[in-house]
Order: sequence, then structure tokens, then C-alpha cells
Amino acid sequence: MIQPLYADKGSTDKFDHIVADLCETGLSVYDDFIPPLLVNNMALEARELFQEGEFRPARVGRGTSLQLRPEIRNDHIHWLDTENPSATQRPYFLDLETLRQHINRSLFLGLFEYEGHFALYPPGAFYNIHYDRFIGALERVVTCILYLNDDWQTENGGALNIHQGVEASSLSLPMQVMPQAGRLVTFISEQFPHEVLPASRDRLSLTGWFRIRT
Ligand code: OGA
Ligand code: MN
Repeated sequence: MIQPLYADKGSTDKFDHIVADLCETGLSVYDDFIPPLLVNNMALEARELFQEGEFRPARVGRGTSLQLRPEIRNDHIHWLDTENPSATQRPYFLDLETLRQHINRSLFLGLFEYEGHFALYPPGAFYNIHYDRFIGALERVVTCILYLNDDWQTENGGALNIHQGVEASSLSLPMQVMPQAGRLVTFISEQFPHEVLPASRDRLSLTGWFRIRT
């Protein structure tokens, strides 16, 4: 039997697809980036860590100016050890590494490393409009958010609301993206101010950034 040249073409395509969208608009929304079973296991792992008290209230700012500002954001986060990922996280981080290489090849961004955390927004929690790249966090160049919420309904709220930045955009903005399980949102961090709207149920994600050396 003749073996197909690219047995793994399906999963190669997802990286090309995301990079093409990033080149064109600076933003990609890609569904089923990760198979449902894996997403589910990551959600279970995040919930277990939360129950074990391994999440902390998220703070704003950077370095010595990190502050608890619940009027700006009131989610809970757990930073991940991306060098020593759990067996559950490993396939996702391997995919992110492939994505990083694809982005560097096409957009010449010189992305060098990744940092990421689980985030849990309890019902009613939010994150006010902000940029991920700002003075003090210039090393964050590309934002990647993987959502872990099974069967999310529009009535549950909790959209990621992506706004028009300084640059004109070919996208129709603001755009609301629902935090549906397996959906990966990738964008050029400095291009889009964005916010997390309150939800009626727990809202889980794995949020991270590709960084450059500054
Ligand atoms: C963030 C963020 C968006 C989301 O953590 O910086 O904007 O949809 N998260 O969880
Ligand atoms: Mn953000």
C-alpha cells in the first residue's frame, strides 16, 4: 500500500490556517484546535488544581507594580510550568511550539518562548478592557487563548470582546467570541484591546503569550 506523503496533513493545516489569518487580520479564531477528550482532561485538571487551592486571585501590572485590583479583573489563575508540563498539557504545548515556529517563519516575529496560566472566572467575574502588551510587558507579542468550557451557550455570557485598536482593521469590530471548548483565539497582542464579559457559570481557559527577548 502506498503511504500518503503527509499522513498528518489535517493537523499541519491548522497551523497554516491560523498563520494565514494572523497575517491577514492579526487575529485568528480556530475551533477544535485540540480534540474534545484532551480539552476535557485539561478542564478536569484545572478544576482539581482550583479545588486544591492552587489558584490565586489574578493581579494587574508587572514586576514590582503587580497589584490586586478586583475592580479591573477578578479571575483566578494558576501559572503553568511549561518546561515540565503534565501529561495532559503536553500535547497542547507541543502544538503551541509548532505554531510558534510557523508564526516565526511567516511573520518574522522572533517569538522565543511561551508563558501561560489556567484562568478561572467564577460567575460574575470579568476583566476590563486592556492590552496584553504594554509598557512593562513589551515581551508579550502574540496572545493565545484556549477555552475549556464544554457546551457553552450564548445565554451564559462570558464573551471575549475584541475591540478596535489604534490601527484600522479589516475585521468587523468589536467582535464577541464565546469561550467554547477547544476554540483557540490567537492575536497580535498590541493590536487589539479586549475584555472578558461576566458569565453566569464558571469560565475556564488556558491563556498564554509568545514572548520575544526585550
Ligand atoms: C487575559 C485575557 C481573555 C479571555 O488573561 O489577558 O484577556 O478570554 N483573557 O480569557
Ligand atoms: Mn488579555
